[in-house]
Amino acid sequence: MRIALLGYGNVGRAVARLLESRRNHLEGIGLYPKLVAVADSRGVAINPGGLDYSKLEEAKRSRGSVGFYPDYGRIGVKAVEIISDRLVDVDVVIEVTPTNIVDGEPGLTHIREALKSGLHVVTANKGPLALAMPSLLELAHHTGRGLMFSGTVGGGTPFIRFAEKCLAGDRILGLEGILNGTCNYILSSMEDGLSFEQALREAQRLGYAEADPSMDVDGWDTACKIVILAVHIMGARITLKDVEVKGIRGMTKEYLTEACKRGSTVKLLGSVDAKRGRAWVAPVEIPRNSPLAVSGNLNALTFHVENLGSITMIGKGAGGIETAHNILKDLIELKMKLQYRSI
Ligand SMILES: NC(=O)c1ccc[n+]([C@@H]2O[C@H](COP(=O)([O-])OP(=O)(O)OC[C@H]3O[C@@H](n4cnc5c(N)ncnc54)[C@H](OP(=O)(O)O)[C@@H]3O)[C@@H](O)[C@H]2O)c1
Repeated sequence: MRIALLGYGNVGRAVARLLESRRNHLEGIGLYPKLVAVADSRGVAINPGGLDYSKLEEAKRSRGSVGFYPDYGRIGVKAVEIISDRLVDVDVVIEVTPTNIVDGEPGLTHIREALKSGLHVVTANKGPLALAMPSLLELAHHTGRGLMFSGTVGGGTPFIRFAEKCLAGDRILGLEGILNGTCNYILSSMEDGLSFEQALREAQRLGYAEADPSMDVDGWDTACKIVILAVHIMGARITLKDVEVKGIRGMTKEYLTEACKRGSTVKLLGSVDAKRGRAWVAPVEIPRNSPLAVSGNLNALTFHVENLGSITMIGKGAGGIETAHNILKDLIELKMKLQYRSI
């Protein structure tokens, strides 16, 4: 399986490391991944014979770009050119450039070009899916290629896989839950007495929150995940503009203390209600004994299912390594699907 890895940040590097460290295991199950192209924002490294992880790391660490990979690096070449100019033969594109919810770029073009060129795509990038998931799925279907994205939601807890496998045949009527560990950490810290600003700074110090935290605290990260869940497991045809979004910036510790006195806690929930055709994200007061009342940076998601009733899953959200693990899992599933020709 010849792989082009577009994006060499937290997730991309963890993917390259995993492909290297899990090589024996993967070959044991018949998967022979070969990283033939890697791109970051400044350049590319391309070798049909395969790129070496330690050399990629050395080029990135010492000179700031994979474009400085010895002999095979090219500064100034764009990631999309790997696909559109067929700079090397590729089977699968792993798309892990930054999430952009304004126009989805550069990921949206990478994914479209890859599918149109007959390549399979595995991505953890929520932007293109949140903005154009129904049309991207149609394109994948039309071209007969896989579009896999289990790393986009609940990286540390297999929400998507659970719904696909364990709820198959039943009907998911709705879902609601905590899909952003950073906001949950901030709200939990505020209940312990910190102000919003103090809790945010603490989350940033611990590496839970980005320097620019707006995707998380303004609710957009949760909204992207709600779109992906609604489209993929509930068959809704929505995009980000259909989600009502309110974040946690306006929260005060006084409000949270009052909620505590009422036996409640406040959580940033995302929800899809199939019956009302409504998707939203907002801070909501819920009873302390609700299964969704989890603290710290945990995620929790309740599925409301026609025959099975309500089922809640609780677990870790995502970091670079959890997301890379999901990408690897998608590659293994892709290999199995190709073997049985189910895509
Ligand atoms: N980190 C997580 O825990 C996590 C969890 C779930 C999903 N995700 C998603 O996974 C994706 C990657 O996350 P990350 O944490 O690895 O982000 P990151 O550390 O910011 O890395 C992004 C990478 O994309 C590269 N890039 C930016 N613009 C590019 C372009 N035009 N062409 C080619 N490469 C480009 C960057 O290049 P430079 O290195 O040159 O800047 C960098 O290597 C994001 O969409 C994110 O939302 C991340």
